Amino acid sequence: MTDTALTRLTIRRPDDWHLHLRDGAMLEGVLPHTAAHFGRAIVMPNLVPPVVTGAQAAAYRERIMAALPEGMSFQPLMVLYLTEETDPEDVAAAHAAGIATSVKLYPAGATTNSASGVRDFDKVRPVLEKMAEIGMPLCVHGEVTDSDIDIFDREAVFIDRVLHPIRKKVPDLRVVMEHVTTQDAVDYVRDHHKNLGATITTHHLIINRNHILAGGIKPHYYCLPVAKREQHRIALVEAATSGDERFFLGTDSAPHTDPAKLQACGCAGCFTAPNTMSCLAEVFEAAGKLKNLEAFASKNGPKFYGLPVNEETITLVKGEPVSYPDRIETDAGPVTVFDAGFPLHWRVEA
Ligand code: NCD
Ligand code: ZN
Repeated sequence: MTDTALTRLTIRRPDDWHLHLRDGAMLEGVLPHTAAHFGRAIVMPNLVPPVVTGAQAAAYRERIMAALPEGMSFQPLMVLYLTEETDPEDVAAAHAAGIATSVKLYPAGATTNSASGVRDFDKVRPVLEKMAEIGMPLCVHGEVTDSDIDIFDREAVFIDRVLHPIRKKVPDLRVVMEHVTTQDAVDYVRDHHKNLGATITTHHLIINRNHILAGGIKPHYYCLPVAKREQHRIALVEAATSGDERFFLGTDSAPHTDPAKLQACGCAGCFTAPNTMSCLAEVFEAAGKLKNLEAFASKNGPKFYGLPVNEETITLVKGEPVSYPDRIETDAGPVTVFDAGFPLHWRVEA
């Protein structure tokens, strides 16, 4: 059957391998949108202050579970924010106790709430060696922060200057290159498969830098890493839809209130939790690869993390265009939902 003839698709319940849930009122407002479709998510630790220790991750996990509406099932997979002071023994204990699934490396200053990130990569070497020993993956925000490096080149330069050297020094470390945005990153993952995977966001499969900048600035398309040229978007679609098990979904759904986005210096982040599955089905269908959506959203991630795939399934149904609200209201303020810019015909059956 051709993809356009397909009108129903049942897949294992997907997981989100890179998600921002925030805290407090924002957490309460956004969590149901993820839990509606996703079984598990790797929850980013860039709160203020960040989630650094095992004890902080355990407390944050409790706040997430307390915010989950009755009757919904969802498992947060917690991540520790790597600092130059992180204690390898605390990381190992949190992993052994099932509190922390991975550790996140933010180069200091790379993105929202990354001021406590790493400046001197040699200082975190003992933590990385411990993680390699216990088989705990490192999630990496792959951008250099040097002001002399053009923002559109920061991912490619990071691969040469930081990622490749780290992987050479600690070859047994399992690494996830998060939210890859370039052909360079896709090629790097394909050429260096040992212990390496990559997440791809929903929005980077849909927008290129023209969407942000041409015909007026669109703050709701501004995220980090910033979307690149069309040739890079095409490379991401090719990687995501290929079925290649090294590429899996990490939405990087990153809610900020509209007032925080719509100002002279607006926050980075696209909020895609409500409509991600509709967007992805449209992208995979257009590529003629609907049959690989399950690999990307539901199978490749668990495989990399050494976890079982979800037992439950979801069914996507194609029909008249589905409408999502332009924004959701939370007690922290309104949050605009990602606009794919084209009609979405697939919805998750309730
Ligand atoms: C994220 C956020 O807002 O926390 N923003 C984003 O643009 N993706 C941070 C991040 O993952 O870089
Ligand atoms: Zn993120």
